[in-house]
Amino acid sequence: MAAVLDASDVRPGSVVVDLGCGTGSVSLPLAQRGAQVTAVDLSPSMLDLLSAKASDAGIDGITTLAAPLEELDLPEGSVDLIVSNYALHHLHDRDKEALVVSALRWLRPGGRMVIGDMMFGRGTSARDRSIIGSKAAVMLKRGPAGWWRLLKNVGRFWFRMEERPVTMETWERYFRQAGFTEVVATPVRLEASVVAGTKPGS
Ligand SMILES: C[S@@+](CC[C@H](N)C(=O)[O-])C[C@H]1O[C@@H](n2cnc3c(N)ncnc32)[C@H](O)[C@@H]1O
Repeated sequence: MAAVLDASDVRPGSVVVDLGCGTGSVSLPLAQRGAQVTAVDLSPSMLDLLSAKASDAGIDGITTLAAPLEELDLPEGSVDLIVSNYALHHLHDRDKEALVVSALRWLRPGGRMVIGDMMFGRGTSARDRSIIGSKAAVMLKRGPAGWWRLLKNVGRFWFRMEERPVTMETWERYFRQAGFTEVVATPVRLEASVVAGTKPGS
């Protein structure tokens, strides 16, 4: 989350969309910096919690929208920054790719997209194997509860039921193929990476 915020470079008045915002760990700090944030999530209860947190903290500038990202549409050229943190691995690969294409359309020229997420594949690279190995080791150390979690995660990951991460290189390719420039991919720690790009023009 901190890496996404660091890469975001918002200014007061920036128009921001947070995709899969959850309870607002990215939307709230961006709004605190003066951005006008549309916080999008599938789950109305997450959005209710976000609104409660914003109101408790006296933070204005957040509009919530309950919608599946697969069906989201926004006016062309209407957004300065699109962010997403730990949400897009839930989408099917074709929907990830289509979302990046749509995001380019929604951004104004010079606008940016920044996504942070778990980014790894199924073990074909040394990086994948090291990520999968260290995640498994952490869970194994937790005893029976961890073993059960590991088993569930292996099923979810292997059969791509709820968690469908792709590699950082795949995200980079989606960004470049959609037409983003200045595409930068940065490993953060363990499985987490950030990929950012800019819409050409100014
Ligand atoms: C792990 S949480 C991350 C929340 C937040 N971005 C954060 O960093 O704390 C993933 C969020 O993505 C949302 N989500 C998952 N699939 C979605 C979809 N297809 N459309 C919209 N939101 C989705 C979930 O409801 C959940 O709030």
